Amino acid sequence: MLTIDYTEIVDTNQLQDWEKSLIAQAKMALEGSYSPYSHFRVGAAVLLENGTIITGSNQENGAYPSGLCAERVALFYAGAKYPNVPIKALAVVASNEKGITSNPVSPCGACRQVMMEYQMISGKPYSIYMVGTGKIIKIDDVRILLPFSFTNVSDVDQK
Ligand code: THU
Repeated sequence: MLTIDYTEIVDTNQLQDWEKSLIAQAKMALEGSYSPYSHFRVGAAVLLENGTIITGSNQENGAYPSGLCAERVALFYAGAKYPNVPIKALAVVASNEKGITSNPVSPCGACRQVMMEYQMISGKPYSIYMVGTGKIIKIDDVRILLPFSFTNVSDVDQK
C-alpha cells in the first residue's frame, strides 16, 4: 500500500518567516511569466542551503512544446549558477485572470522528474510548498510526489 504524507496549511501564521518569504518570492515571480497562450501564470522560488533564493516563471513559446514550466526555469538556473549547493525548499504558485488560484498548483510530471534528480544530487530531501489562496500543501520529500520514479542511477540509494 502507498500512503502519501503531506501537510495542509490553511492558517499562514503557522508558517515560519523564511517560509513566508519564499512563498512571497514565488508570488513576485508571477510578474515575469510569459504566458500569452495559456494565460496561466506560474511562479516558483527555490531556496538553497546557502540562503540564496532563485525564482522562475513559466516561459511559453509560439512553438508550444518549446515553452518551459516555472519550476524548471528556477531549478535549471539554480543548478547552472550554484551547481554544488543543496536545495532546501521549493515554492510554486499560479494565477489566472481572477488572480492567484484558490487551489494549490501542483507540479507537472516532467517537473517532478527534474525535482527528483536535483534532490538526488542534493543528497537529502527538500520541501515543496504548493500554494493556493485557500490552502498550502507542503510535502517534505520529492519522492512522495513521484513514487516509483525513473532514475538512471537506480543502484544508488537515497539517504
Ligand atoms: N505550468 C508551470 O509553469 N508549472 C506547472 O507546474 C504546471 C504548468 C505552465 C506551463 C504552461 O506555460 C502553463 O502553465 C499552462 O499549462
